[in-house]
Amino acid sequence: SPIHALLLALPKCEHHIHLEGALTPSLLFELAARNNTTLPVDDLAFTSPESLRSRYEHFTSLDDFLHYYYIGMSVLILPSDFEALAWSYFQRAAANGVHHAEVFFDPQAHTSRGVAYSTILSGFNAARHRAHEELRMSTELICCFLRHLPPPDCLATFNQAEVQQSFENGAVTGIGLDSSELDFPPQLFGELYRKAGEQGLRRTAHAGEEGPAAYIANAIDTLGVERIDHGIKLAEDAELMQRVAESGIMLTICPFSNVLLRCVKSVAEVPIRKFLNAGVRFSINSDDPAYFGGYVLENYCAVQEAHNLGEEEWENICQAGIEGSWCTQERKEELL
Ligand code: ADE
Ligand code: ZN
Repeated sequence: SPIHALLLALPKCEHHIHLEGALTPSLLFELAARNNTTLPVDDLAFTSPESLRSRYEHFTSLDDFLHYYYIGMSVLILPSDFEALAWSYFQRAAANGVHHAEVFFDPQAHTSRGVAYSTILSGFNAARHRAHEELRMSTELICCFLRHLPPPDCLATFNQAEVQQSFENGAVTGIGLDSSELDFPPQLFGELYRKAGEQGLRRTAHAGEEGPAAYIANAIDTLGVERIDHGIKLAEDAELMQRVAESGIMLTICPFSNVLLRCVKSVAEVPIRKFLNAGVRFSINSDDPAYFGGYVLENYCAVQEAHNLGEEEWENICQAGIEGSWCTQERKEELL
């Protein structure tokens, strides 16, 4: 249909994609074989790529997904593994009409297994260079901290010399906060975010995915974030919704993720209309595309099927996505 052609053609930005969440079952098994990784023998889901893929259709919660997500990424060892992962995502995104991608990664999930930060970054940077050269896609890296780990561990990672160097040389643009939400409210990470702010880093945090709207307010008040990842629970607090609208803070919404992790029953339940009516800025994203059954264009199409937006509304969403991006002003003007 004409609207789907428009959705493909629009200059899209993606702001909420965990590169580790782009690890497909087939690449997972390929790397496990190559790197001699031991996968769980007591879970039949790890029998084959097909059985793993079908297990992904039945997540019961964020934590159920995260269990598979952290096992999956244990196959990533060499710079070439991280490069192959990021490059496979960049190619898929480009085919979906993504012109600019700001991608998350979880260094603590790798350094805790003995993989050096420089290994992760050299692989990702090789893929980013290729995306720029071969796909004309611009990319930014966002270093995420795992909120289920003690805040002092997060601060120690933040302070590591090679991590600091990646901030200083511009390889990493900002920080994020992800993993299990409910028991780990944003304010635990106040010191980390204050330090990041002092260094001029951009700041975002997952909030209001499984957690309540109050976590969104806490992330804004105690972390100084300029974006909120997910944030769908914002629709439950009209006053806070007005405040977010006026502040220009952008939500990075992930419809397939919300359905697969049972935060909503269907894409129709993602409060797209409420956000449009309230003037809340948002972008539409894939989160962990290899786990949730769709890349960014499939998320756009699902929103269209469920919410029937007009052409102008879609153009405005993509324009807000460009304006809310963390690239240079010069690059924003090219993207418009
Ligand atoms: N890590 C990867 N995907 C995530 C999500 N949707 N929420 C929290 N942490 C994540
Ligand atoms: Zn996420």
